[in-house]
Amino acid sequence: MCGIVGYTGSQEATPIIIEGLRRLEYRGYDSAGVCTLSGGTAATRRSQGKLINLERLIQEKPLSGSTGIGHTRWATHGRPSETNAHPHQAGPIIVVHNGIIENYLALKEQLRKKGHTFLSETDTEIISHLIEEHYLQSGNFEQAVRAGLQELRGAFAVCILCEKEPGTLIAAKQGSPMVVGLGEGEYFVASDIPAILSHTREMVFMEDGELVLFRDGAAVFSTVAGAPLVKKPRHIDWSPMMAEKGGFKHFMLKEIYEQPRAIRDTIAGRLREEEGTVYLEELRLTDKQLKAVERISIIACGTSWHAALVGKFLIEEHCRIPVEVDIASEFRYRNPVVNDRTLMLLISQSGETADTLAALREGKSRGAKNIAICNVVDSSIAREANGVIYTHAGPEIGVASTKAFVTQLTALYLLTVKLGRVRGTIDRLRGQEMLAALVRAPAFLEEALTLDEEVEQVARRYMNARDFLYLGRGINYPIALEGALKLKEISYIHAEGYPAGEMKHGPIALIDDQMPVVVLAPHTSSYEKTVSNMEEVIARGGGSLRSARWGMARSPTRRRLCWRSPSTTSGSRRSSCRCRFSSSPIISPS
Ligand code: M6R
Repeated sequence: MCGIVGYTGSQEATPIIIEGLRRLEYRGYDSAGVCTLSGGTAATRRSQGKLINLERLIQEKPLSGSTGIGHTRWATHGRPSETNAHPHQAGPIIVVHNGIIENYLALKEQLRKKGHTFLSETDTEIISHLIEEHYLQSGNFEQAVRAGLQELRGAFAVCILCEKEPGTLIAAKQGSPMVVGLGEGEYFVASDIPAILSHTREMVFMEDGELVLFRDGAAVFSTVAGAPLVKKPRHIDWSPMMAEKGGFKHFMLKEIYEQPRAIRDTIAGRLREEEGTVYLEELRLTDKQLKAVERISIIACGTSWHAALVGKFLIEEHCRIPVEVDIASEFRYRNPVVNDRTLMLLISQSGETADTLAALREGKSRGAKNIAICNVVDSSIAREANGVIYTHAGPEIGVASTKAFVTQLTALYLLTVKLGRVRGTIDRLRGQEMLAALVRAPAFLEEALTLDEEVEQVARRYMNARDFLYLGRGINYPIALEGALKLKEISYIHAEGYPAGEMKHGPIALIDDQMPVVVLAPHTSSYEKTVSNMEEVIARGGGSLRSARWGMARSPTRRRLCWRSPSTTSGSRRSSCRCRFSSSPIISPS
């Protein structure tokens, strides 16, 4: 995820900004840049890759000035490169930006007609040109910023400088985080607390639609439209580690809570609600080519493969195109039936998974058209595929996929609408309904995330279970698979996902009171059938833990439950274990 750091005060800005950017490195980035103002001149240094590259550049060509802005970029629009790195300058206006500008193409077109030329592929560059355009008219930096920002649609946190106003820095936020740090006669501004925590613990959190103007040693808060605001600082007593994780215990939890934002970013700028369709800028397939597709082959690994299975349901249901789904490591070692009428869809968060990349190459060699759904911009798979739909989840630091999965589903849904509209299986009205449903999804997720206490209670009740079953039907079967995978990799509890209707063909024999079963039963047409599968489970006492106390006596392997519990660590297995299966001492396996 991109990071922003700004400074204005009496110290040299560059070391403070670089240090702040370093503290944001854990979030992932592909390029970085800094701009400082000194004596009416702006100087910018940008480089691709690690911060060390930028530091070397600054050593060679030093920057001076006590007001400056810096940025680490995680590419969304335009590949990682020095040209696409922030800050972006247009005339005297210099901008760093986090977020996604939804209407950037329309604005770019308008600005082009007014004679602006663009050097980068980013949505950010239009912000600097837009403000420059207003500045040319009013000659007033503050007014120009306010006017420009009010024309933007989408999410942004921005820091803006004007070469002609050396001591002034403006920051504003809409949908992306921004915090202001109050120092002694100096101010810090950042997208995230850790960037500035070593300088001050007095912070003001900006809300959407707010702007702060730093000038003459003062910070003046207002709405973007200009209404004055009184903001109260808060004292932050987080440790630097806590701050990195945004106050969450670990990155995975943080990323779980980022899911609604990640979906919104993946949708941003892509909906054409009026026409009931979507715009996928980097698909690179014409409508004629999409119409000619005879079958689709989706290939992925792990969580991305589960997303692929959901994609099969969506595409077959709404577009009536046969879809096959393969695990990449299987696909590449068989002799797949793929030809020039096949559309291959490669799904990969990282865009670097070797089997998925090899499958792409295999399919290409057989003449298949191909599209990648990737999170990491300019990753190998994204580069080698003919077209790409980027998910805008931001960097996923937790090993277990969470926000990447839901954004892959979002991308597949967008593709389904596109295909269905082009091929005539989805009419305009249905397209509009589908998009309206998609727009509501993040709010449902937000609601689900408020159930954290209930989820914790369930987890505590079942934390010592040795096995789990996840059941679902139809589109929920892959979700059951994903649930089981998450449980396996995070809690080391054995878990399987099954199609609920398949229970009677064998797996039902596993059900007893020691086998918790998670059933996905939304109110769809298969609800009643799923409920009768639940009845079968309940009749066998599934997961009721009734005989918990003697469970271990029946099965010596139950002892292993304790060290598998997430509440135990290797150093404290004996002492911290709260085994519900035995009161005897726990023996750690070697
Ligand atoms: O980067 P990719 O999506 O290609 O990775 C594929 C799998 O390794 C990945 O989805 C993995 O299964 C998840 N991290 C599990 O949570």
